[in-house]
Amino acid sequence: MNANAAQYSSDSVAHTERIGEELARGLKSGECVCLIGELGAGKTSFVRGMARTLAPGTKVKSPSFTLLNVYEDGSIPFYHIDLYRLAGAVELEAAGLEDYIYGKGVCVIEWADRAAGLIPSCSVVVRFSHAGQGRRLLIVERRGADERV
Ligand SMILES: Nc1ncnc2c1ncn2[C@@H]1O[C@H](COP(=O)(O)OP(=O)(O)OP(=O)(O)O)[C@@H](O)[C@H]1O
Ligand SMILES: [Mg+2]
Repeated sequence: MNANAAQYSSDSVAHTERIGEELARGLKSGECVCLIGELGAGKTSFVRGMARTLAPGTKVKSPSFTLLNVYEDGSIPFYHIDLYRLAGAVELEAAGLEDYIYGKGVCVIEWADRAAGLIPSCSVVVRFSHAGQGRRLLIVERRGADERV
């Protein structure tokens, strides 16, 4: 684990949401958060927590059939992208997602490793793993602007 990484052991959905809520408080417009972790690891729960900070009062939907949900009721826009169903880089471009990823607002991307080229340009990478019934390990890595491409 590198020096800019922090580790959390979440013991419930509510706990994972709270970690997301707190992380979102420190984010500025233009920042992108990449979430990596297998099915059911807690990525959407984390996004729900982020939305409490960035889009209060809105209910986060899992973007199952769309790649993108936009929440614009907060003080800055909040973009939730889920690449689980991404067919390839061409689709990413075709969907115009790059406008959101590098746009005005905060962007969070589930399954960011499906488009690995995105990860180096994100300011925060969160890796989720299963750690037993009801437990998840979250490793939050922050990157300085000079480390991004
Ligand atoms: N500590 C925990 N944090 C988050 N979720 C947990 C935890 N313990 C158990 N769970 C369960 O794991 C599941 C997490 O679902 P969630 O949709 O957040 O995962 P996901 O990583 O977004 O999955 P997907 O890859 O399908 O998008 C839920 O069913 C939740 O109840
Ligand atoms: Mg999800």
